[in-house]
Amino acid sequence: MTLIIKNGTIVTDTSSFEGDILVDGEKIVQVGNFLTQPAGAQIVEASGKLVLPGGIDAHTHFGLPMNGIVSSDDHYSGHKAAAFGGTTTAIDFVPHGSGSLSANIDAWHASADAKAAIDFSFHMNISRLNAKVASQIPELFKDGITSVKVFMAYPNLRMSDGDIFKVMRIARQAGMLTMLHAEGGDVIDILVTEALADGHTSAEWHGLTRPAWGAVEATLRGAMLAAQADAPLYVVHMNTAGEVDQLQYARQQGLQVMGETCPQYLFFTQDDLGRPDGAKWVCSPPVRGKTDNARLWQGLEQGILQTFATDHCPFFFDGTQPIIYEGKPVALPGKELGKDNFTKIPNGLPGVADRLPILWTFGVGAGRITPNQFVALTAANPAKIFGLYPRKGSLTPGADADIAIWDPNRRLTYGTAYSHHRTDYNLYEGWELQGYPEKVFLRGNLIVDGEHWAGRAGMGQYLFRNSNNPVL
Ligand code: URP
Ligand code: ZN
Ligand code: ZN
Repeated sequence: MTLIIKNGTIVTDTSSFEGDILVDGEKIVQVGNFLTQPAGAQIVEASGKLVLPGGIDAHTHFGLPMNGIVSSDDHYSGHKAAAFGGTTTAIDFVPHGSGSLSANIDAWHASADAKAAIDFSFHMNISRLNAKVASQIPELFKDGITSVKVFMAYPNLRMSDGDIFKVMRIARQAGMLTMLHAEGGDVIDILVTEALADGHTSAEWHGLTRPAWGAVEATLRGAMLAAQADAPLYVVHMNTAGEVDQLQYARQQGLQVMGETCPQYLFFTQDDLGRPDGAKWVCSPPVRGKTDNARLWQGLEQGILQTFATDHCPFFFDGTQPIIYEGKPVALPGKELGKDNFTKIPNGLPGVADRLPILWTFGVGAGRITPNQFVALTAANPAKIFGLYPRKGSLTPGADADIAIWDPNRRLTYGTAYSHHRTDYNLYEGWELQGYPEKVFLRGNLIVDGEHWAGRAGMGQYLFRNSNNPVL
């Protein structure tokens, strides 16, 4: 199939210009003005609209097992929601279970491949290190994985600084990127035990037992370890003003460190955790305070942070009450499990569909970032950092025709009616947005047309990623 997207404003991470895009099959073949129209080409009129590269969400957890339950979006429903929000690639984390890393990856493929509705790749969690694991990390390349995540928190996932240092060194030698969950696990574990002993059960204690200073210190500690390992580092889900300060400091010292934040950390605070329905905001690291929101915005505006992802990991707020999903009732155990004990509230929240519309309205619409910064943060930078560029995240000849036609004038009152997440709430319910995807193409295939879903399970392709990627 040949199509021409005509008369739109093409927006990349570096420039915006009026033009047309010629797509042949799955690829962009020409970008410019007055392109010759091959016979039979389908015309997609985009005047008054923006033409953006499909978004890349570098941080999702579809179907993630957590304390006997599982995050409520699987690789199909999560991908579908992503597509409605203008995202055409998602990178999900493979949990480090028993068995070899490749066995864990095989298991993740078994849950993802037949369901995938957008293109996807994996990061590998490393939550224990021994000689076997050390020898398997460089082999991840064969599975197309060139990034590993390590943890400084969660009793079952975190590793010592020494082991994190060793992983960074092994990863660097293999041309891979280490991603870090930066929180102060030792203190968190003590505070959680004490809070429970003192009879504190409500969601606000999730935030109160995970102090921001722990994240600040952990971010600098991560940078310190990366410096000594001479390794690149990417700090995930940055949530605190002090973390941005530490990252800025480390970058000023010439360290190869980068950072990601997510929508929830720009808008919500500990006060939300204190609401009667505060469990909806429970995620780790927790949402913080207004000063943190403001500094994270600055981080995006000033290029201290390189990417805007989601950490999408939804659970029902009330998993006893079904929602209708694709015409059928669905109810999955969720946050109600923690009504008497905040440590039993599954950690995580929805966001994969919200990411681009929310950043557009409150970032571009509010004059905080330019449309080009928007594309950099949501598509081009993650593609570069994670070894997908220029196949993904760019609108150049040879790239996959992953394209969002964006209506900058579309106004809507956002919420579950639009987000398509398989859960019973949306954090932005009732928020007024301006700017929304109108059509979304995955490798030249129209998968979202207004409110119509034209995608299907199994059409998403697994992406083998490059190694030795740039540090931005
Ligand atoms: O609460 C969250 N974010 N759950 C997912 C796990 C993680 O650390 O990213
Ligand atoms: Zn994490
Ligand atoms: Zn995560």
